[in-house]
Amino acid sequence: MMDAMEAIFTRRSTRRMKPDLPPRELIERVIEAGRAAPSGSNSQTTHMIVITNGKVLDELAAIVQEAFAAMEIGPEAYVSLRNSVSAAKKGGYVFHYGAPVLIVTANRKGYGNAIADSACTLENMMIAANALGLGSCWINQLHWLDEDASVRGYLEKLGLKANETVTGGLILGCYDGQPVRGKLKRTGNPVTWIE
Ligand SMILES: Cc1cc2nc3c(=O)[nH]c(=O)nc-3n(C[C@H](O)[C@H](O)[C@H](O)COP(=O)(O)O)c2cc1C
Repeated sequence: MMDAMEAIFTRRSTRRMKPDLPPRELIERVIEAGRAAPSGSNSQTTHMIVITNGKVLDELAAIVQEAFAAMEIGPEAYVSLRNSVSAAKKGGYVFHYGAPVLIVTANRKGYGNAIADSACTLENMMIAANALGLGSCWINQLHWLDEDASVRGYLEKLGLKANETVTGGLILGCYDGQPVRGKLKRTGNPVTWIE
């Protein structure tokens, strides 16, 4: 298995995956890597809702499509939200790219470290997935739709608690074709070093 540095530096977002579920043992190892993430004051309140049921994923995708299609946004909306809304208005928008596994992360509403803790969990899972030979990609649409009544209602039926906010999500699956790995050069994320 690749070491931690290789897993970090070769990880890339994978959006084309086989429809078949990866072996259960690999999914569980990725989830355990997420659970091992650090959290502010060691609060350990990131809740992962792991969806591997194809019918549920299809239903959720249809609700998300409907929610974005009905959304009116201004020019100040960030580009990825605008893309989701415009794709949904055209119809047939599948926010999770048809991946076989979607892990939704949630955390306590009003908790200052909610997003940061969940991001640690998500990043751990992305690196672990790469090390284990699986593809993954952060999926944020359910976070943006956290206040949407239909989306929330559906997620609450799946186990989201009324006092939790959706902080992010991750798709997981086996590569369809060659693994996407390590081709993006980083020219941003500036570093200020005082010696
Ligand atoms: C906070 C966050 C939200 C993201 N949301 C989405 C998303 O909703 N859908 C998607 O396809 N990719 C999403 N991504 C993936 C980014 O587009 C991707 O990480 C970025 O383009 C860099 O590419 P790389 O992951 O292959 O290095 C998200 C990434 C982050 C960190």
